[in-house]
Amino acid sequence: MNNSSPILVLAPMRGITTMHYRKAFIRHFQGLDIEMAPFIPTVSAERINPKLLKDVLPENNSGLPLIPQLIGNKADDFVQMAIALHDLGYNEINWNLGCPHKPIRKKRRGSGLLPYPDSVDAILDQVCDRSPCRISVKVRLGVSDPSELMALIPVLNKYPLSEVVIHPRTAEQMYDGTVDLDAFEDAYHNIDLPVCYNGDINDLSFFRALQSRFPEIDRFMLGRGLLTNPFLCEVIKSGDPKIENAIERIAAFHSDVLASYEAILHGDHPVLGKMKEFWTYQSTHLSNGRNMFKKLKKTQRLSTYKAIVAEFLADAEWMA
Ligand SMILES: Cc1cc2nc3c(=O)[nH]c(=O)nc-3n(C[C@H](O)[C@H](O)[C@H](O)COP(=O)(O)O)c2cc1C
Repeated sequence: MNNSSPILVLAPMRGITTMHYRKAFIRHFQGLDIEMAPFIPTVSAERINPKLLKDVLPENNSGLPLIPQLIGNKADDFVQMAIALHDLGYNEINWNLGCPHKPIRKKRRGSGLLPYPDSVDAILDQVCDRSPCRISVKVRLGVSDPSELMALIPVLNKYPLSEVVIHPRTAEQMYDGTVDLDAFEDAYHNIDLPVCYNGDINDLSFFRALQSRFPEIDRFMLGRGLLTNPFLCEVIKSGDPKIENAIERIAAFHSDVLASYEAILHGDHPVLGKMKEFWTYQSTHLSNGRNMFKKLKKTQRLSTYKAIVAEFLADAEWMA
């Protein structure tokens, strides 16, 4: 058994787990070990600039180890971006081979590359040879068919990848339906590289079931489960689902996230956009979260928003 102290990784979630969210999260919650940043599209060398890399500039980091993620299908661009990230101090970069969105897929980026092992091979050949950073990949089972990942595995096994993060859904599933743990198991047994499990870790009991089914896996990536329950890493690490002062801690976290968006976004509308997305997840475990979110969704003014949040949090209970 290798997983008595699992390594817990924050999943990249574009638009949500921004540097602002990540910094606030680390100030208020424990148990997370590593963060993976949302994807940055690869661009040619002359278009690489601090604005593009802003989310991963070291001065914006939360303090936890951060793995930047790139999405793209041009080896040269990838290598130039890897050099720029290495100059910022990074030693590992993740390549996104999992993004399920159709416009991205159609351009053979993200999960759109999964059915093309030869293309992946050609890119990894260049990137692993020329990148100053170690490379990991984040994959799904395939676009429509789990056998696509199985066909890609011999290619992945050829390279010294630091890790293969597997989210066991197909791209066509998007985030619906259930994760396919049998397909994950098949893939896991065929991969000769370190594997990180990702998908639907929403509570301690699912996490424990994963641990007992895959006792050698010691890396787990958490996305929506952690956004809805930011105490989840603490609960997993301690084994104790009881949380003291949960609502006060959520309120303090919320104030921090709100303050950082108010500081950088201009006008009520963009701040409200970010905060409504925040509550899409964060309201799930509040006893009055459903009603609160319904009211928040209609709000057009920040002052009304703040009043609603204060009113509902004053009455809320944390439903673990
Ligand atoms: C809104 C949203 C944005 C996401 N952005 C990214 C991303 O930038 N890079 C990536 O590899 N995966 C991204 N994902 C996928 C998550 O990292 C993760 O693989 C997925 O949510 C499954 O894990 P979970 O069940 O723990 O949430 C995103 C998912 C969502 C819902």
